[in-house]
Amino acid sequence: MNSSASQSALDSAGKGADRIAELFYWMTGGASVIWIVVIGLAIYAMWSRREHPVRTTGWLVIGGGAVVPTIVLTVLLTYGLAMLPELHRPAPEGSLTIEVAGVRWWWRVTYTDEAGERIETANEIYLPVDQPVEFKLTSEDVIHSFWIPSLGGKVDMMPGRTNRLKLHPTREGVFSGVCAEYCGTAHAQMRFRVVVTDQKTFDEWLVNQTRNMTVRGELSGDREPDGSRLAANMLDGETTFLSRGCSACHAIRGTRADGVVGPDLTHFGSRLSIAAGVMDNTAENLTRWLVDTHGVKPGVEMPEFQSLSEDEIESLVEFLGALK
Ligand code: CUA
Repeated sequence: MNSSASQSALDSAGKGADRIAELFYWMTGGASVIWIVVIGLAIYAMWSRREHPVRTTGWLVIGGGAVVPTIVLTVLLTYGLAMLPELHRPAPEGSLTIEVAGVRWWWRVTYTDEAGERIETANEIYLPVDQPVEFKLTSEDVIHSFWIPSLGGKVDMMPGRTNRLKLHPTREGVFSGVCAEYCGTAHAQMRFRVVVTDQKTFDEWLVNQTRNMTVRGELSGDREPDGSRLAANMLDGETTFLSRGCSACHAIRGTRADGVVGPDLTHFGSRLSIAAGVMDNTAENLTRWLVDTHGVKPGVEMPEFQSLSEDEIESLVEFLGALK
């Protein structure tokens, strides 16, 4: 039920991930060489009938047990530590800054546009390629950890504290992000999508995200004559959304829905996934989510709305899907 989004620290698409993959390959290579030498010596020791003078074997133990490990670990530590300044350097002044808060079990994402206006979205992060980006990470409840394996290292999200992470995507694509710190029942389903695009697509996306939804206004315009069923259904959907409790937790900017407990759904229809990266955003999956919320994501805070009729669910699905 999930389309492919790369989630591998070795399928690197960012500067930080490049260095981490490099370190991984050096460590794996070095460990393999040492392993082969040790196993070779063990096999030799089992099969050899030669008597070895105590002096020689003593040197082997001191050399192999103390000198070589000290040299290898010192080199590895120096090599690893030398990477830190670059990975930790903040993004240059004026870089794109995105706030992300971990919430059980989803991600509140806030952009600030050039006019200084804050734009909230959830569970999906767009980034322009070849630009440094600074994340300000925090948590609204327990400790989470923000990790986009293809782009770089992970950083913990702590309640009452803001941690920073700089990433620098180098390749366009859709990547998967995860929570990397056990945070309760739905920890493994606390995921998100990262879409790295060219600057123009990113700018257009951000402008679109700033738009408020005016469902009734839009429908009273030119879309009404040809799409009356959809229009009627969408108005039904909005009515259901507002009257059946959805808006207590979810906001749709431009409508009366202004809940802040759950993910902002203003541009829900434009997102690739639902339920925090758990399923692709299709009408079929959304229906499943509304009918069997706790079956799809055990532990989720959203209640199951079993009192919704089939018609109401259908209209909600159509309405939410149209919020592009
Ligand atoms: Cu949030 Cu694990």
